[in-house]
Amino acid sequence: MQRATLAAHDCVRLRDGETGHHLERVSRITRLIAEELAASHGLTAAFIDQLSLFARLHDIGKIAIPDAILLKPGRLDAAEMAVMRTHVEKGLVLLAQVLADHAIPPQPATELMAAVIGTHHERLDGSGYPAGLRGEAIPLAGRIVAVADVFDALTSRRLYRRSATVAEGLALVQQQAAEGLLDPVCVAALAARQAELEAIVAFSAGAAPDR
Ligand SMILES: [Fe+2]
Ligand SMILES: [Fe+2]
Repeated sequence: MQRATLAAHDCVRLRDGETGHHLERVSRITRLIAEELAASHGLTAAFIDQLSLFARLHDIGKIAIPDAILLKPGRLDAAEMAVMRTHVEKGLVLLAQVLADHAIPPQPATELMAAVIGTHHERLDGSGYPAGLRGEAIPLAGRIVAVADVFDALTSRRLYRRSATVAEGLALVQQQAAEGLLDPVCVAALAARQAELEAIVAFSAGAAPDR
């Protein structure tokens, strides 16, 4: 499972090197949050390893997004954004195909992978996509990766704005938690690891926009 995951990750990275950096940072940030929640949520070291590995695949569906949209500099219009958002469903289809092709039966690891791919754009107040899930109907894995993904997007350089510093990024995700979008427990866990975040954010100067 681990080799298959890394091979799939390489596919995404080859398609868009900058997205590759985003995936690596989200994986590392996911690990920090999960480690911080381990005691209170009973997360094992094996679970944390797996979650951090699968976090690299959260945007796997972007392989199926046309270059004109995926690589477009600057903001997407509404129609382009709608196409970009299909990366979640496309990722789930891709995962189902790979599991079927390799005759891998459903198991906790495949469910965890599907949770990461399928729910990282859900928001606690139901305003997310694709399913509009609310609160704890969103699996913990999805709530953790959502925080890591948003934080990385904020602290990554964009063509149309400068990146937020770690402190600014934390303040912005705390604001999104206060607005009922992100899980406040996951955001507090992230804020508890500020020193390590500085090193992760410095991992790469640039990133493709994440939508
Ligand atoms: Fe995504
Ligand atoms: Fe992402």
